[in-house]
Amino acid sequence: MNRASSLISRFAASTAIFAAAIVLLAVFSFNAIRGDLFRDSFESPLDEWSSYLAGRIGEDADIAQMAARNHNMGVVLTTREGVFAFGPDGQPVTPEFLAQQASTVRTIIVDGHGDMRYSFYLRDSEVVNTNPSQLWVLIGGLLFLVGVVYVVQLSQLRPLRWLKESVEKVSAGDLSTRVPVVRMDEVGQVGRAFNHMTARVEQMLNDHDRLMADVSHELRSPLARIKVALEMLPEGDKREQIATDVREMEALTSALLERERIKNRTARHDHAEFDLVAMTRVVVTNFADRTPAVVLTESPEALSILADEALLKVLLQNLVDNAIKFSLDDSGPIEVRLGCSDESVTVSIDDDGRGIPGDMTDRVLEPFLKLDPSRGHRSGYGLGLNLCQRIVQAHNGSIEIQPREPRGTSVLVKLPLGF
Ligand SMILES: Nc1ncnc2c1ncn2[C@@H]1O[C@H](COP(=O)(O)OP(=O)(O)OP(=O)(O)O)[C@@H](O)[C@H]1O
Ligand SMILES: [Mg+2]
Repeated sequence: MNRASSLISRFAASTAIFAAAIVLLAVFSFNAIRGDLFRDSFESPLDEWSSYLAGRIGEDADIAQMAARNHNMGVVLTTREGVFAFGPDGQPVTPEFLAQQASTVRTIIVDGHGDMRYSFYLRDSEVVNTNPSQLWVLIGGLLFLVGVVYVVQLSQLRPLRWLKESVEKVSAGDLSTRVPVVRMDEVGQVGRAFNHMTARVEQMLNDHDRLMADVSHELRSPLARIKVALEMLPEGDKREQIATDVREMEALTSALLERERIKNRTARHDHAEFDLVAMTRVVVTNFADRTPAVVLTESPEALSILADEALLKVLLQNLVDNAIKFSLDDSGPIEVRLGCSDESVTVSIDDDGRGIPGDMTDRVLEPFLKLDPSRGHRSGYGLGLNLCQRIVQAHNGSIEIQPREPRGTSVLVKLPLGF
């Protein structure tokens, strides 16, 4: 999946930006409201308190020093005798030292009689109980809320993911797939329409296959009668030509009937455990007298798999048959490989034949598609790979065809182990 174009990742990104904006806004508002609260709630009581304190200090520097220590603030007392400044710990300091900190403290100046002046430097935290943890609680709460919204939104988008997965399955040929419809909103309606559409297409294709099988079946009797009638005709070119055509028609009807038979069998799921290596050896041996040679190159000793043995045999035979049929005079041997991982087994058939162009590797799986129709029907009807695809799908597996370098074709079949 292309992450950049994923709706869900775009949704996640926009939620993250949205969340950051909300948190920033909340932090700014928090600070602004706190400032206002201070002005509204504390400024005038503070003024009164400062005037009271100024009255208590009078002209006495000792009391000013005590007040500084007791109230944990800076005090500057300006009298006729001089300027006295004390830090929050009550130690004498210079007035400039306290003035330097004016940006981080609240300064209250009270003018007394004559030249008397009292400056109090109060830390914000002493004035308003500003607990920074409150801000973190606010940020945490907001992030939590945004997270909840995100999860809820994601669950709303889940049907879209189901739809995407189902579309992928359909495009891989599995028309039996359906989307769960859990809601009646627009996405639910799309899901319902999708289900309706795939059911219709599946029905049409089934009808189409059924019709072909029925016609093939019905054609068998007239073909048999033509064959009998042919025997009675005098020998000659025409008779030979008609006999060849009749044989071709018989081969086609048999191929179509065989296809239908296999289709019914795939629906039956005749699965049993068997050794894929032993079965592959038998298939390879059956092709022993053909050129180019077929060799089983890499394979484990034994590979037990739960599958329909008869169908997998048809699958292997078709793929090896193609590899031989479409080889060239100077082609090297055909290599069959078996592999196994924790979840699946792989069967690959690599040939050195004339190959399939890269843009046709998917299309050759369609029924009746032949890359070289000029070869006539002697090389087949273009049904083999379509059958292989059906067999693989019936086992929940996959089939992948790729051109090889410098020439030839590689077919990779993957089957889940525990099907
Ligand atoms: N290994 C291969 N190398 C080159 N071309 C191939 C190979 N396998 C298949 N093809 C091409 O794909 C087409 C479809 O293959 P498919 O097996 O479906 O039909 P077929 O072999 O022509 O006939 P049938 O299998 O019905 O006897 C073939 O006609 C051929 O052109
Ligand atoms: Mg074939």
